Amino acid sequence: MDERSGVEGPEGGFGNSNGAFLSDISELRRRARQRLERGAVTDGYEGDVDRTVELLNGVLATEIVCTLRYRFHAITARGIDSESVKEEFREHARDEQEHADRIAERINQLGGRPNFDPEGLASRSSSQYVEGENLVDMIREDLVAERIAVEHYQELIRFFADHDPTTRRLLEEILAKEEEHANDMHDLLVRREGKPMLDH
Ligand SMILES: [Fe+2]
Ligand SMILES: [Fe+2]
Repeated sequence: MDERSGVEGPEGGFGNSNGAFLSDISELRRRARQRLERGAVTDGYEGDVDRTVELLNGVLATEIVCTLRYRFHAITARGIDSESVKEEFREHARDEQEHADRIAERINQLGGRPNFDPEGLASRSSSQYVEGENLVDMIREDLVAERIAVEHYQELIRFFADHDPTTRRLLEEILAKEEEHANDMHDLLVRREGKPMLDH
């Protein structure tokens, strides 16, 4: 069948009553064949790819710093019940590592270069690498870092909105995990200190 035999609306697509616009299939096929070197990034990508890659590299740095901090805590924590807390730190370190990998994969998919360079890592990251003086300190610092991550992800999700739904969905999934992490750390603090730390 001739791809160009379909009836095309203005600009080769169809509008609907909500003002949304669907491309004609033949037009989609034609565009897909152009600029194959851009891989997953098509003309329909409404974000700014360079800006997206830059923002995601900031997220990647944050996730790497969080991985490193949790691993340090998992290995060095001392004190009563530290074994169960260490296991929690270890689990979070694994989650943060997975987040870093997923973000790096997305950067690569967009044709960008994931930045794993240790040089400047701490300044690219939104959260900080704080060792903590004791177990409670460690938990508190992890809670602070998680709260930074939660807020940062919320902002990015609003920023990407419908311009890049794939990145937005990825960030939404990670955000849900960071909220769990923050809650875990809050529970640990309450258990250790016997009172809620974040009363309003
Ligand atoms: Fe994370
Ligand atoms: Fe986290």
